[in-house]
Amino acid sequence: FFAGMHSHMVQNSTSSNQSGNRTLHILFGSQTGNSESLAHDAANRAKSHGLVPVVKGMDEIDIGQLTKMEYLLIITSTYGEGAMPDNAEMLWDAAKEDSAPRLENVKYSILALGDTSYDLFCQAGKDWDERLATLGAQRLFDRVDCDVDFEAPAEQWLSEVIPLMAEGAATVAVLDTDNRVAAKPAYNRKNPFPAKLLVNRLLTAENSSKETRHYEISIAGSGLSYEAGDAMCVVPTNCPQLVADIVKALGCTGSEDEPVNGELMTLSEALRTHFEIKTPSKEFVEEIAKRSGDQELNGILQAGDKEKLSNYLWGRDTLDLLLQFPAVEFSAAEFLGLLKPLQHRAYSISSSSKLTPDTVHLTVASVRYDAHGRHHKGVCSTYLADLVDGNTDVKIFFTPNNNFRVPADDSLPMIMVGPGTGIAPFRAFLQERQARNASGKNWLFFGDRNAATDFIYRDEIEAMKTSGLLTKLDLAFSRDQAEKIYVQDRMKQHGAELFTWLEQGGYFFVCGDAYRMAKDVDQALHDVIREHGKMSLVQAVEYVNSLKKDKRYVRDVY
Ligand code: 2AM
Repeated sequence: FFAGMHSHMVQNSTSSNQSGNRTLHILFGSQTGNSESLAHDAANRAKSHGLVPVVKGMDEIDIGQLTKMEYLLIITSTYGEGAMPDNAEMLWDAAKEDSAPRLENVKYSILALGDTSYDLFCQAGKDWDERLATLGAQRLFDRVDCDVDFEAPAEQWLSEVIPLMAEGAATVAVLDTDNRVAAKPAYNRKNPFPAKLLVNRLLTAENSSKETRHYEISIAGSGLSYEAGDAMCVVPTNCPQLVADIVKALGCTGSEDEPVNGELMTLSEALRTHFEIKTPSKEFVEEIAKRSGDQELNGILQAGDKEKLSNYLWGRDTLDLLLQFPAVEFSAAEFLGLLKPLQHRAYSISSSSKLTPDTVHLTVASVRYDAHGRHHKGVCSTYLADLVDGNTDVKIFFTPNNNFRVPADDSLPMIMVGPGTGIAPFRAFLQERQARNASGKNWLFFGDRNAATDFIYRDEIEAMKTSGLLTKLDLAFSRDQAEKIYVQDRMKQHGAELFTWLEQGGYFFVCGDAYRMAKDVDQALHDVIREHGKMSLVQAVEYVNSLKKDKRYVRDVY
């Protein structure tokens, strides 16, 4: 159902076509596919207003092209702490240069996606808005910033901005002859598919310090399809025990009727199925501070010290805060009013639909830890882990990841760096290459703490090496020896060959931990290119940028 998303261009970048219809450029900066999907919604709506939409990822254009986009919508998410999504990075770097061209001909509006639990809420959208205005572009309609429940505000923005962009333009809708705008998937966040959990199996050893599980989920009968590189989203419910403990801490029974989205349900049901009850929302923390008058917490909040606040909150969930300040009393309605809506979690798919079209495999680490005198469980990973396999319902939908794909050219080399659960999409990629009988070389960097307990999919990976599907396999088990060894150390050890593969047109994929691993792997990639390409730092950066631009350096990191 995502077929066609690769070529979402409707027309070339001219500001009007021969029939006088106005071109509306729709640029998306997307990390998980929401902005991309909204860009296509915008395109469909633009057509019905006689506009000719051209949808592009921000990595598909350069700054020169931006100057010619007379009518422009930007839809962008924010990544991590206020950063641009991966595919927007390069255009942004060019736009913020002092030498960036003026954008006097551009009339624009911005839709920003974000999450109010982060301090730098919707920062990427805000940055673009400010920069475009500084460069002389005319803001036709005010930016709208959306929280995690983005559908309603996004719809509102679209319904106002599209007619504005179309004003004065020909109102004859052009026929969608090329039919290249992707059809909307039948199931989404608001309407997930009730899939069946067939298999729930422990991958790590019983005595491992980690718990990583393999899931097989049937999508038979849904009409859905997926591609290697896509993510599957799971809509969890909260742990009943945690719900019960919170109800008790509130001094309630759980059977109180509460209105949620215009519907009455019991407090327990609301907490189980509609709200994030694990991670304390900013509003909840602020309210606790206010009502308790607690000096430490108020001090941290007033100082605005992000790091201190996150240290304070580390391992503390909503229940911990309720228990810590028993004198603070909330009515059930007040409490619900301070919570954020329960979100889905996205997991990189670890199977290829070429092998298992009706079944999706996931590889998920269960989050479990002890802190502040209690046992804590990650919401969705343990929701899945605690499900009995067989015929259990799990609500799912897909988000495409059009950047993260097996190369279209089967003969090109693939280099994959995926320690821990980062292996997931690469298991799918390798299955895909096998099914396609692809001739290209494949190189996997994998690792974790200990080989004896954490070498997940060991038999499969070793069989792939034996069969020759994996040309090279480099392992980094960090805790099997006195000195830590990480995947990036293996990259550097084999730097000469790695550079050769890149020079042969190789693709470089990274999946897994964003904060430490992906940063260090990025550094190692630059180091390898500098050393073995005999380049200066600036040249190495340019080399990496051109890999990114060609979508030959792509990451799925979290
Ligand atoms: P460690 O916990 O032994 O330090 C998966 O979690 C693997 O990633 C573990 O082997 C872990 O090692 C390793 N890891 C931790 N920090 C890393 C980093 N900065 N770069 C690469 N791997 C890292």
